[in-house]
Amino acid sequence: MNILVGYASAHGSTAEIARFMGAIFQEHHFQVHVADVESLGAADGYAAVILGSAIHAGTILPSMRTYVRRHKDDLTLKSVYFWIACIRVIEPGGCRHARENYIPYEIAPGINPARVAAFSGRVELAELQPGERWALALDYDGTQPSEPFDGDYRDWDAIRAWTLEVAAELSTPQSSSESSIAAN
Ligand SMILES: Cc1cc2nc3c(=O)[nH]c(=O)nc-3n(C[C@H](O)[C@H](O)[C@H](O)COP(=O)(O)O)c2cc1C
Repeated sequence: MNILVGYASAHGSTAEIARFMGAIFQEHHFQVHVADVESLGAADGYAAVILGSAIHAGTILPSMRTYVRRHKDDLTLKSVYFWIACIRVIEPGGCRHARENYIPYEIAPGINPARVAAFSGRVELAELQPGERWALALDYDGTQPSEPFDGDYRDWDAIRAWTLEVAAELSTPQSSSESSIAAN
């Protein structure tokens, strides 16, 4: 099965998650194309599309929003899976908050992702522009300030587990019809 893993990443860590997922799909005999959504056209020829975005100011990056809007009609015909990477997930209850509030379901109601997931991401304060540091500090809606978050919080086991669930679902004929919220 031919699948597409499209990502939107500002500082590269979400791209790394997407490539990690791509390698897992490949191990399980899928043909996978992993690419930045900015470089992607329509999803013709792919049976399933796995989309992932970093979160800035409580929502997905503009390039992902544009991609989904532009290719909505095409994506509606596919099995679509959607995930995000952010720091809110690290906080108690943050995973649920991120899934419910950071994924803008209104951008493409027709897509109806078969599964969504929120993963913890990476913040390297030293690599952020001053404006980004300000934006993170001002817009972060967590229960604690964003400043202490500085490091790589990616949980590769959780990412692997979710990817394997998606792979298993895609390998069964009735895979894409059910809509669920992943535990992670
Ligand atoms: C300017 C900026 C704003 C951010 N806003 C949020 C936010 O509102 N909520 C959150 O949980 N994480 C937020 N983050 C954290 C990122 O989502 C997280 O670091 C992500 O893993 C970055 O992925 P990337 O390396 O692919 O850009 C923000 C990061 C930056 C730099």
